[in-house]
Amino acid sequence: MTKVTVCGAAGGIGQPLSLLLKLNTRVTELSLYDIVNARGVAADLSHINTPAVVTGHQPANKEDKTAVVEALKGSDVVIIPAGVPRKPGMTRADLFNINASIVRDLVANIGRTCPNAAILIISNPVNATVPIAAEVLKKLGVFNPKKLFGVTTLDSVRAETFLGGLIGEKPESLKGKISVIGGHSGDTIVPLTHIDPAIGAKVDKLSALQYKEFVHRVQFGGDEVVKAKNGAGSATLSMAYAGYRFAESILDSISGPGFSVKVPDSAYVYLPGLRDGGDLQSQLNNVSFFSVPVHLLAGEILSFEDPLKFKVTDGEKELVKVALGGLQLSIAQGTNFVAGSKI
Ligand code: NAD
Ligand code: LMR
Repeated sequence: MTKVTVCGAAGGIGQPLSLLLKLNTRVTELSLYDIVNARGVAADLSHINTPAVVTGHQPANKEDKTAVVEALKGSDVVIIPAGVPRKPGMTRADLFNINASIVRDLVANIGRTCPNAAILIISNPVNATVPIAAEVLKKLGVFNPKKLFGVTTLDSVRAETFLGGLIGEKPESLKGKISVIGGHSGDTIVPLTHIDPAIGAKVDKLSALQYKEFVHRVQFGGDEVVKAKNGAGSATLSMAYAGYRFAESILDSISGPGFSVKVPDSAYVYLPGLRDGGDLQSQLNNVSFFSVPVHLLAGEILSFEDPLKFKVTDGEKELVKVALGGLQLSIAQGTNFVAGSKI
């Protein structure tokens, strides 16, 4: 029996993500929560002839605090794509003022209602919303760092797609042969392309300009979509796919074959809470949250791969250095926000 709850289920990401989850036969209950239209989306998905029982929960009015609790009760996995997306000209950091309190309040409800759930955070700015979640759970005394994940899979999906096209490899074959680490915003996103010697050799044949454009496209792929949607939001369908890819690994680790058959994806995690995480943190100027490939078992992190032990080129080391500055600021912003908040 596995219950998955999506918070923000009626949104641009929430709807296609919920559809993909409804198709997964490991899910026995799919609970959809949103402040609008969750019941409509649930009614629609409930007609699909797969096992998951779908329920929809939305507050009756602004004061109603019961719907979210009802939605979360007994959840094994909670995925959060709730909040506002970017418009052209905005950075992800510009979303902080609205999304910080949305994530804080949802995670407080998770901490009180289903503290053992794996929590997957999609809402931006991920670099700060995940530290917010950690601080809220710490304040409530229920923080399990092995079960808190910032979803950065879209960066890996983009890197695989863009590099595959450049070096003549099938993008889907690149999972695990390249990696994307760091954070989820501009120059905090760091693609590593020399983990696999054969792929690294092909990357070395790219011109300096081609390689630079590849890195830029991975770091700013989100902007490409925001610009193309021209005010109608940011990536939703590719994000639903990416979020599902990570959620599927979590579900497999709960009731499937486990970590050993899976190539790990990266997630933005709290390093000091993981075995050997402190060592990596000290090599990263003490940055406490960082996206690394994670092995999963029973819905939590069993171990992570230290990306600095991969073959990392001098250019990639420089990218990591740049990423650390931006991450420090976002982590502090998230942490300070909760310090000044009543939970
Ligand atoms: P959207 O506006 O289409 O949907 C957001 C949904 O959240 C809406 O249905 C809204 O009603 C709901 N919502 C708002 N406040 C809520 C609350 N308190 N509780 C429950 N639901 C609430 O936006 P979207 O395009 O789906 O994007 C959602 C978020 O995901 C944005 O912050 C966006 O920047 C982020 N995002 C992250 C990634 C990533 O890689 N991690 C990729 C794409 C988008
Ligand atoms: C993305 O990478 O597409 C998302 O983080 C949305 C955005 O604002 O770019």
